[in-house]
This record gives sequence, C-alpha cells and structure tokens, in this order.
Amino acid sequence: MDIETVPAEPIAGQKPGTSGLRKKTKVFLKPGYLENYIQAIIDGIGGVAGGTFVIGGDGRYGNRRAMQTLIRMLAANGARHLIIGREGLLSTPAASCLIRKRQADGGFIFSASHNAGGEDGDFGLKYNIANGGPAPEAVTAAIYEATKTIAFYRIAEMAPVDLAKIGTSERDGMSVEVVDPVADYAALMEELFDFEAIAALFSEGFTLSYDAMNAATGPYAKAILEERLGAPEGTVVNGEPLADFGGLHPDPNPVHARKLFELMASPEAPDMGAASDGDGDRNLVLGPGLPVSPSDSIAILAANAHLAPGYAKGPVGLARSMPTSRALDRVAERLGVPLFETPTGWKFFGNLLDAGKITLCGEESAGAGSDHVREKDGLWAVLLWLNILARRKETIPEIARTHWALFGRNYYTRHDYEALDTESAEALMAELSTRLPELAGTSAGTLTVEAADDFAYRDPIDGSLTEHQGLRILFSGGGRAVFRLSGTGTEGATLRVYLERFEADAEKHGLDPQEALKPILEAAREVARIKAHIGRTHPDVIT
Ligand code: G1P
Ligand code: ZN
Repeated sequence: MDIETVPAEPIAGQKPGTSGLRKKTKVFLKPGYLENYIQAIIDGIGGVAGGTFVIGGDGRYGNRRAMQTLIRMLAANGARHLIIGREGLLSTPAASCLIRKRQADGGFIFSASHNAGGEDGDFGLKYNIANGGPAPEAVTAAIYEATKTIAFYRIAEMAPVDLAKIGTSERDGMSVEVVDPVADYAALMEELFDFEAIAALFSEGFTLSYDAMNAATGPYAKAILEERLGAPEGTVVNGEPLADFGGLHPDPNPVHARKLFELMASPEAPDMGAASDGDGDRNLVLGPGLPVSPSDSIAILAANAHLAPGYAKGPVGLARSMPTSRALDRVAERLGVPLFETPTGWKFFGNLLDAGKITLCGEESAGAGSDHVREKDGLWAVLLWLNILARRKETIPEIARTHWALFGRNYYTRHDYEALDTESAEALMAELSTRLPELAGTSAGTLTVEAADDFAYRDPIDGSLTEHQGLRILFSGGGRAVFRLSGTGTEGATLRVYLERFEADAEKHGLDPQEALKPILEAAREVARIKAHIGRTHPDVIT
C-alpha cells in the first residue's frame, strides 16, 4: 500500500462539542480540514492499528467523498476491518447498534444531525467509542489536544470503495465490509417490541404518518413499519435519503415539521403523527389535536415501558438531562426507582447505561432512548409508542390525559433565541451567573425567586465533575427557568430558555403550555434581562 505522509498545520476551531465536530459544509471542504480532523481523532483515541471500525452517516451532501477520505486514512493508519452501511448510510442509533453487535473498537458518523445540509448547510463528524455511544469528555478533550499539535496526516493511495455493493473486499491487509444498514437494527427492534401486536393494530386500521424528512430514517421506517408491520404504503413520507434533504430542514420541530403539525391539528389527522431528524436519533410524536412534548413523551414511555417485551420487568432506573421537565421524576418516584439528572448531551447517559443503573433516558430536545444502544433513537421511540398503543387500546390524547391525571402535569416549553451575537449572549449568561447568589428572595414578575444555581454534575460512576451546565432559577409556586447557551449551533450563539411549571390538577390551565407558562416566562425575562442584553423579546423557535 502506498502511504503518503502529508505535513499538516494545526487548524483552529476543531473543538468537538456535545455531538462531535459540527461546522459549515464549506469549512469542512477547505483543503486539508477534514484530513486534519480525522488524523486528530485517530491520534486522540490512541491510534487505530489492528482495529475494527463502523462507518456511516445521514446521507447529507459531502458524506460519500468524506467517507472515501476516511477509509484511505484508516488504511494508512493500520486499521484492520471496516464495516460500512451501504451507500454510506447508517442512522446514528443503527451505527451504535452495529458497533455493539460487531464488537467494533469505535465508529465514525458523518452527520450534522438536525441541522440543514447542502453546500451552504452544515456538516459534521462524530466519533463513537466501543460501547456504541458518543465519545465522553476525556476522549473529546484528547482529540482536541491532538488538533492543536498535529504535524502530519497519513493517507493511502487507493481506488474508491464501491459503497453501493454489499460484500467484503480486501485492501492491502484491511478488509472493507459493506453491509445492509437496516438488517441488524430491525432485528434488534423485533427483539424489543411486540411486532405481532403492532401489526394487528395496523391491520385493524390504525393510521400513522411518519415523516422521515428525506434523511437517514426513511429506509428503516419503510422496512420496519411498512414491510414488516404491514402499515399501508405511504405511511412513511419523505422516505428517500437525499443529499440536500430535498430542501427540507430535517429538524422535527413545529417550524420545520410545520406540515405535520398542521395535518395533526386538522380533521384529517391520522391516529398518530411522527417524525425523526437528519440522522434518526430524535423523535417527535403527535396525537390528533395534541402534540406530545418530548419531556412528557419520555415520562409516558417510562411509565408504560413494561408493556413491551424488551422492558417487561420495568425500568431499573431513569435519567433525564437537567433542562428536561421533571415529569419523569414523578414516574421514577411511583415506580420506586432512582432518577438521575445529567447535563445536556447523550454522552452523559453512557456510564449510567453501561453500569446498568438506568433502563430509559431522555432529553427535552426530542431525544429518547434506552439501554438497547448508546444513542437516542427516534424510530425506537415511535415503536415503543406503537407497542403501548397496541396494548392499551387507547388514543394518544387519552393516554396523555390519563398520565397527567395520575401524575399531575409539568407544563413545559423551550424558547430559542438564535444567531445571536456571541458577545451579548455570553454577557447575559455572565451577568446572571454573577447575580445567582443574591437572587433568592428577590421578586421577578409576579413571582419570587426561591433558589438559583449553576448546574454541575458529578458522574456517579467515574466521579468526574462537569461544571457550568446551565443556570437554574426556581420560583415560588414550583416554577423553574433554566438558561444555557447551545453547544451545537454553527452561527453565532443560541440562547435556550427552558420554562416549567407543575400542576397537580392537569386541566387547570388548559392544554396550551404557552398560556400556562406566562408567569414563568415573564419572571425569566426579568431575571435575566433578556431584552436589555440581546435586544429581542421573542424567540425564533418555541418547542
Ligand atoms: C442540543 C440539545 C441537546 C442534544 C444535542 C445533540 O444541544 O439541546 O439536548 O443532546 O443538541 O443532539 P445544544 O444545542 O442545546 O447544546
Ligand atoms: Zn440527530
């Protein structure tokens, strides 16, 4: 094998965030940028010699070319075996599933998740470790260190691998195996869920509209929902993975999945609406006339998980990210199992899952998952909902309402202020954080601040400490506001304001969380002086 050692200068700004390195596509296309970062991953993880690695992505613009570069670089650095999804496609949960099933040393996932794709959109690369989950802080820190000291990268001369053909080929001592991206994942789903009951539900006329947003989950959803479970053709919409997502923005929120929201609010609404994001790890579930907030969804899934064969014994423990609503805490309490509160980002669930401390976990940002893989899993959440619906024989609104009647309701919303000038956003956070100690007892809007802190997390398994994970303000009456800056944006800063309020009487404030949360919103605006800092009163996205 001809190996070229190319001198490389450290390139600024290659700091992996909560989900790997995410940048504008044009940044990744700069000569040497991708190569430089790949070599930093290889060096940061201590080399790849003799190793087995999974490679996949969400099919977005630039993926295939980037994969050929990765394959040549893994070869040059001594990897022994590569497992690649056909056409370079693997949803993030399917990649996690493959890494675990094939006992690979790790995996490379090309995706910018729910960010827009294309030449003017975003691109990303994430490294997952042998447990199938996102690289933990220690590993991303080592990768970042390597980006700063890199002196050269290694790349092999080789003809491009034919990603369209399933099968194994040998390349100078490295074997390259192209696999069906769906098969192993679908088999795992069949182990977890009562496929017979779900198939019966569809055969009785249950209707679902699943929007795959022209991204990674299309082939999975078609194979599982339409082919195996007998849902009528057309159940999966936007089911072809396209390099530009067909011009759609693959983020299943009220703005980018507006059509689905409109359909579910109309008289033509099917029994269930669902969507997933670019790489298939997020999920959205809507009932006719009632979108289920992700925080409620994970609570309802946890309370009913025992209805699915894979979770028949019920969860051993539950976890949520700090800004996620505390609806899940009430479920944990009733089940008599521990509840862990972690920082934002799926990687913080990894240790708890590996140690068998939790079975289900979730985030407010449309992420839910379990110990079946080490990533959140969009289609898994939809299948668990279907399994529950098949067993309970109630509608989604009925299930949500019964849940609230039993547990009370945590009204919840997240307000995002996007593309802010970084300085003003940081100034808002800095000022609020300095004022935290003096806030208790002061008034904000019609409420009083009861407590305020800067969230830090001590990992119960490895003892590591993660600080500055969001500013929490607790108000009189049980309301809460959380402030944090996004770690996944690619343009300026995004301020996220999370608002929550508990009511034992679930119908007291009606169904609309925005109405119920008005006092909390007013208090949050005042406490953080949002308008004064960023000059805005209205968020860009409300979820
Ligand atoms: C966002 C979500 C977070 C999720 C992450 C990766 O991160 O808020 O829950 O884990 O994307 O999907 P953020 O932009 O808030 O840092
Ligand atoms: Zn995603």
